[in-house]
Amino acid sequence: MFEGQDTVASGISWILYCMAKYPEHQEKCREEIREILGDRDTVEWDDLGKMNYTTMCIKESMRMYPPAPLVLRQLTKPITFFDGRSLPAGSLVMLNIYAIHRSLSVWEDPEVFDPLRFSPENSSGRHSHAFVPFAAGVRNCIGQNFAMNEMKVATALTLQRFQVSPDETRPPIKVPQVVLTSMNDIHLYLKKIKRTHQ
Ligand code: HEM
Repeated sequence: MFEGQDTVASGISWILYCMAKYPEHQEKCREEIREILGDRDTVEWDDLGKMNYTTMCIKESMRMYPPAPLVLRQLTKPITFFDGRSLPAGSLVMLNIYAIHRSLSVWEDPEVFDPLRFSPENSSGRHSHAFVPFAAGVRNCIGQNFAMNEMKVATALTLQRFQVSPDETRPPIKVPQVVLTSMNDIHLYLKKIKRTHQ
């Protein structure tokens, strides 16, 4: 339930929150989705690979609001870090994905929502472990492609039907409860979009 459902629920909640908070990006995603889907009400397999801007927005949302903000490892052998400090075998180590994704040593203006960070040109020089929403290494997420597809479908079909805007009186209060969630829920307004063929 945790790996397959709660993570994706968190991911979908935060991308919709980001779409509401950054309407210019919401509109660009909607334009892209309209172009791909036309009058269709469903997303087909081939559509998923065409959602370039929407995918960049989902990645940027997972950078700022990683659904799995922390992972833990127990060391099977001692480790010495690049600065000479070390930890003994058996130590429980917490990797703070949330902090990595907002690290000033990797990200310029990390508090700014900028999907173009994930364009091919801008991603190419980046360290492979700078963006790790699905962790990394041999125990990384086995469901990541499926999860990305779920988030693309949910974002596309929501934006096709609704304009989303934030409830400014109730901004989310982030809290890591295994997955990144909001202590006071995520409150958005949905306005139905009139579609010509309905
Ligand atoms: C946005 C959605 C998701 C995120 C952010 C996410 C993130 C992660 C992360 C960070 C890990 C590593 C955990 C650790 O090392 O302690 C992980 C592992 C895992 N994930 Fe996901 N996940 C997502 C969706 C899914 C889905 C949809 C599935 C299954 C359909 C899934 C199945 C798994 C499994 C089985 C593991 C354990 C892999 C192993 O230990 O070898 N995840 N996920």
